[in-house]
Amino acid sequence: MSHVPQPRTEKVTIPLLRRWKQEGRRIVMTTAYDAVSARIADALVDILLVGDSVGNVCLGFDNTLPVSMAMMNHHLEAVARTRPRALVVADMPYLSFHLSPEETIRNAGGFLQRGADAVKLEGGARRLEMVRALVDCEIPVMGHLGLTPQSVNVMGGFKVQARTADDALRLLEDAHSLQEAGCFALVLEGIPAELAARATETLRIPTVGIGAGRCCSGQVLVFHDVLGLTAGHRAKFVRTYADGFGLLQDALSRWASDVRDGSFPSPEESYPLPEGLGDVIAQWTPFSQT
Ligand code: KIV
Repeated sequence: MSHVPQPRTEKVTIPLLRRWKQEGRRIVMTTAYDAVSARIADALVDILLVGDSVGNVCLGFDNTLPVSMAMMNHHLEAVARTRPRALVVADMPYLSFHLSPEETIRNAGGFLQRGADAVKLEGGARRLEMVRALVDCEIPVMGHLGLTPQSVNVMGGFKVQARTADDALRLLEDAHSLQEAGCFALVLEGIPAELAARATETLRIPTVGIGAGRCCSGQVLVFHDVLGLTAGHRAKFVRTYADGFGLLQDALSRWASDVRDGSFPSPEESYPLPEGLGDVIAQWTPFSQT
């Protein structure tokens, strides 16, 4: 069955997400890094995340640590120019929210001035001061707990988190501290499904899971993973709905072959010379031959 895009409806807002949590309506979130992905996804999802995963998905880095504010601003501006109906959340890259509340506010405020509706940042108790500073400046914040990719060096790789009693309880405490600090939602990544379910049932704010089981308030997957555009290893939690890589390579290879055998472009794909100009250009002689 094909799923035709729904017509644009109301703008997704933070109060609307709060209402959906109360009503038990599931939230759909995916990444968008440019105007093309934003236009494809906007009619179909509730939240567009301009994720720092742009670093490994699109820019060729091994992880998200090299992603800078300048890179994030560039990608956010491209998404924002499409004026999405979905809530646009911009991801705060590594070191953009660690140094001081002032710098954190300037970076996050800059995202809002470039068209983001909210920001997301990774981490629990150690980031509460920054979350409070942002909320105090009317900047909506989405938290991110569990497998936080910016902590790859501390975690020793991209591994499922919160698998001991201490870590699981710390995650629940962090989730509630972030809620009390003013976060409007939390991403829960790479944690046991039952732990994500316990966080979700005890929080007032919605949770959006990735590798965190089905009992979150919503789900997020990277756009390129859903469409099968990423080459190489895919995490166990990724469900791919198209062989985008193969599909696009097939289309491109058919065009390349048409170029090579001379069947592209056809006369219909070419501009004809205005009447009377045929003789003019035929009689012209290159300077080198005069
Ligand atoms: O940057 C990103 O894509 C993310 C999601 C995986 C939640 O943070």
